[in-house]
Amino acid sequence: MSAERVLTTHRDVDFNPETYVSTYYSSSAWHEKDGDLITFVLNSLHEAFKSGAISGVHVLDIGTGPMPHTAFCAAPWFEEITLSDFSQKNLEFLQKWKNREIDHMGPVLEYLVKLETSSSSVEKRQEELRRKIKHIVRCDVAQSNPIVSTPVDGIIFDAITSSFCLDVASVTLEDYVKSIRNISNLLKPGGLIILVGVLEETFYKVGELTFKSLYIRKDDLKVIWQKEGFEIITLKDFNETFPSQKSESDNADFKSAYVMVARKEEP
Ligand SMILES: C[S@@+](CC[C@H](N)C(=O)[O-])C[C@H]1O[C@@H](n2cnc3c(N)ncnc32)[C@H](O)[C@@H]1O
Repeated sequence: MSAERVLTTHRDVDFNPETYVSTYYSSSAWHEKDGDLITFVLNSLHEAFKSGAISGVHVLDIGTGPMPHTAFCAAPWFEEITLSDFSQKNLEFLQKWKNREIDHMGPVLEYLVKLETSSSSVEKRQEELRRKIKHIVRCDVAQSNPIVSTPVDGIIFDAITSSFCLDVASVTLEDYVKSIRNISNLLKPGGLIILVGVLEETFYKVGELTFKSLYIRKDDLKVIWQKEGFEIITLKDFNETFPSQKSESDNADFKSAYVMVARKEEP
């Protein structure tokens, strides 16, 4: 008889940042080929940021976990970066990385720098990111003010990025809608959100832990964001990009994934 999967949420239990990185982002986990989820995400983020049209002073990454790859793509175009997460372990991990005690992003950064085809090196771009990160703070998207740490409290951001967070931070669609409202409070009118997420996923695994994920279809996703006052500018769907690719893995049961750029409408 197979052991029953025990589902939990990020509120119940924390995950191990090292296990997460080695499961999803290590060179052995990540294949750098068309049809691979992480390749799709990095290509799409690169496309979204490369023109410099997404720019400003303050950018916030929500639910960074141990991987600031969205902030890396945003870094050339913003002056100050804030990373945030619910988990104390992830915040400590990120701080150690910023202090150069950890070097875990190699394959991802090499891939992104290659896409950029600039004269900059991984080392220079990583240092730029470390330098521009001014705050690494606790965040809870379920709260109407998700970040209460001073001096971040009170900043209205020019843009927000978030990767694979909102789906796993919400158990119900009502939670999801609330989390959109809560993070929208942190974004200036006319500001952009660059969101990476999964579609129709019920769980994802980190080591022995199986986390719940909110099952959401693409049509519902679009309707919800539009209802909450966002104009969807682009929505790249993994399955449409790689129709013959099987998106599921043993670690998660998502049916597709997406990278969305949306603008908060002006009142
Ligand atoms: C699947 S990981 C994504 C990590 C990283 N952004 C990435 O793309 O690989 C989900 C992250 O969301 C964070 N998280 C979960 N619930 C949250 C909440 N209520 N508010 C903010 N972050 C949350 C977790 O701590 C975890 O770091």
